[in-house]
Parts: sequence; C-alpha cells; structure tokens
Amino acid sequence: MKHLRAAAAVMASGALLFTGAVTSAQAAPADAYHHPKGAPLKALAARDHLFFGTAVNMDALAEDSTYRRITAREFNSLTAENVMKWETLQPQRGVYDFTQGDALVDFARSHGQAVRGHTLLWHNQLPGWLTSGVADGSISKDELRQILREHVTTVAKHYKGKIYQWDVVNEVFEEDGSYRQSLWYQQLGPSYIADTFRWARQADPHAKLYVNDYNVEGVNAKSTAYYNLVKELRSQGVRVDGFGIQGHLSTMYGFPGDIPANLKRFADLGVESSFTEVDVRGEMPMDETKLDRQAAYFSGMLDACLNQRKCTSFTIWGFADQYSWVPGVFPGEGSANIYDENYAPKPSYWAVREELAEGRFN
Ligand code: G3I
Repeated sequence: MKHLRAAAAVMASGALLFTGAVTSAQAAPADAYHHPKGAPLKALAARDHLFFGTAVNMDALAEDSTYRRITAREFNSLTAENVMKWETLQPQRGVYDFTQGDALVDFARSHGQAVRGHTLLWHNQLPGWLTSGVADGSISKDELRQILREHVTTVAKHYKGKIYQWDVVNEVFEEDGSYRQSLWYQQLGPSYIADTFRWARQADPHAKLYVNDYNVEGVNAKSTAYYNLVKELRSQGVRVDGFGIQGHLSTMYGFPGDIPANLKRFADLGVESSFTEVDVRGEMPMDETKLDRQAAYFSGMLDACLNQRKCTSFTIWGFADQYSWVPGVFPGEGSANIYDENYAPKPSYWAVREELAEGRFN
C-alpha cells in the first residue's frame, strides 16, 4: 500500500508545483519546457538498473527540437511508436524499408540509450498487400506462414544486437482470455505464436523476447491467458523471457490494485516483466482532481515495477500531450502524458520523478 501513501504525498507536492508550471506556460506558451533542477529521470532510474523509456514519434523527433532535447535527456530506453511495425518496414511484399527504424536506433546510440523493439507481430498496421491478399485468397495459408517467417527473421536479424527487448507478439488475446480472432489466428491457428517466438529466437538469441498487451495490469482473465501461454510454450520448449504490460489506463476507471500480485506470479515463473506503453488518459477538460488521480496512477504502476526485482523496464507511450494517440482514438479524452502540450511538467511528471528518486523497495 506504499504507493497509495506515495501518491497522496505526490498529489500534494505535485499540485503545488503544477501551479508554478501553469504560470510559466502562460508566460511562454510556445514552449514552457525548462528542466527542473536535479538529475534527469533516466539517471534516477539507472541507479536501480531500470530502463526508463518513452515511445518516440519520428516526425516530432525530426521537426521539434524541444521534443528531441527531452527525448535525449530524460530517457535511457526508446521504443518506436510506429516505425518498426509491418506497414512501415515492409510496405511492399519483399521490399523492406528500415530508414526510419534505423534513424531511431542511430539517435538512441548517439545518446547512449537502449532500444525496445515494437513489434514483430500485430494484427494492426499491417501493409495493404498483406491484408488484401489474405482477404481475396491470393495469399494461401502456407504462403502466409512463409511471409511471417521471413518478416520476423529479416527484421530481428536486421536489428540483432541493437534491441534489448522485443515485443514478439502483441495483443493476441481477447478480454475473456480466448485467442484474438486476428488474421494470424484465423489463417494459421494458435501455433503461429510458438513459431514466431522460435523464429525470433533464432534470428536474435540475445534479445529478451516478450508477449505484450493492454488490460493485463492486474490479475484477470486476459493476464491469466498469458500466464498459461507462457507455461504452455515452455512445455513445448519455447522460452518466453518477458511479460509486457502496456499500462494504458484511464482516470475514468479504478486503479487495478492487484498489479503486484500479477507481477509476482510471472516472476515466480522465472519471467521478467515490463511496463511498455504507460499513459493515463482523462475526459477533457482535465481539472486538478483528474490530474492528481492521473499522477497517482502513474505512481502506482511505477511503484509496482520498482518493488518487483524482475520488472526491468518502464516505458511511457510518449511524454508530450500534443503527440498523443489518445484523442484520435477516444474522442473527448486526452491529456494522457507527463508533460502538457507546452512541455510544462504535469503532476504525473512529479509523481514519476518522486517514485524514481525513492528507488526500488521503498
Ligand atoms: O502514417 C500515416 C500518414 O501517412 C497519414 O497522413 C496519417 C493520416 O491520419 O496517418 C498516419 O498513420 C497514423 C500512424 O499512427 C502513424 O502516425 C495512423 O493514422 C494512426 O492510426 C496510427 O496510430 C498509432 C496506433 O498505434 C495504430 O493502431 C499510434 O500512433 C500509436 O501510438 C498506437 O500504438 C499502439 C501500440 O502500437 C500497441 N498498443 C496500443 C497503442 C495505442 O493504440
């Protein structure tokens, strides 16, 4: 229950500091970013051997110098928000385009940052040639399996040695724990998951290989499906190294209180865990109460990670509200990140900072 105490403390201090941030945002609306005194977040995290990351929007990285500065300064792990997905990497059949993914890896390398790979398999953001080929029957099941094998092998080999954790399969279960009726499942049956892990392992034996999903923070039907999948794959000789919890929460719903128990059961299996896409959205307009609640949710997830030795990375899904995916998908909702659209730190920023400063097992 420590995180609830921490959250309360954070709410108090965060609210105070946030008032200051609003003032500076009003004074300089174009860009209220000024780094608060003290170590960057990544330095606090590194003391505990925690990778503290962000998803990176490559357009923002190219065009927005403040975005670039914060990405370089605050994080020791980067995830491509979009550019390592199928539609970007293999826009035409057999034609790979690693330009943007490589640019992310180069940026990370030049700033001493690690890279999380996202994602070798998903049902979204697939290229048109693939989805239409499956739909019109011009790509047979056997061919699809070959296409999957070739993509996973090519991509994992291309980035071999440059990615410390790969989301190998993303979002493969429904909420009730049954297999998601994706193109992959419908065409290939459940064995595509073991296959994808085998091919990824062969191509890059040293990366930690993850399953990854949303709504799996606490113990529920979906997270239990992953728990059983990891055991099942192991009995087939297929090792899964990590359980990725996306962490897309909303202030409109309660906080899942059983995150520590969930992390523990995976740790007891010998599997590490990571928070991979954390953000906490709210119904707009946000007010102080919602912002404080948001801060408490960030704090609660990070606290759970810091109190589980096998929780190795904590990635937020972007840090600046103006680039968030949320308003595009949930109309009327937003403000999901730790900096506002003028780069003023929000209470959630201070909550994260305080948790990292407290460190593990506090
Ligand atoms: O690249 C095109 C661009 O050419 C076009 O002009 C523009 C017009 O809308 O769209 C651009 O594509 C967008 C793409 O992001 C790249 O910016 C898509 O419309 C947009 O739907 C897509 O959204 C991404 C979403 O995944 C797709 O499902 C979000 O940025 C990204 O944050 C989000 O990330 C996912 C994780 O991968 C998996 N977990 C859930 C998470 C949130 O949905």
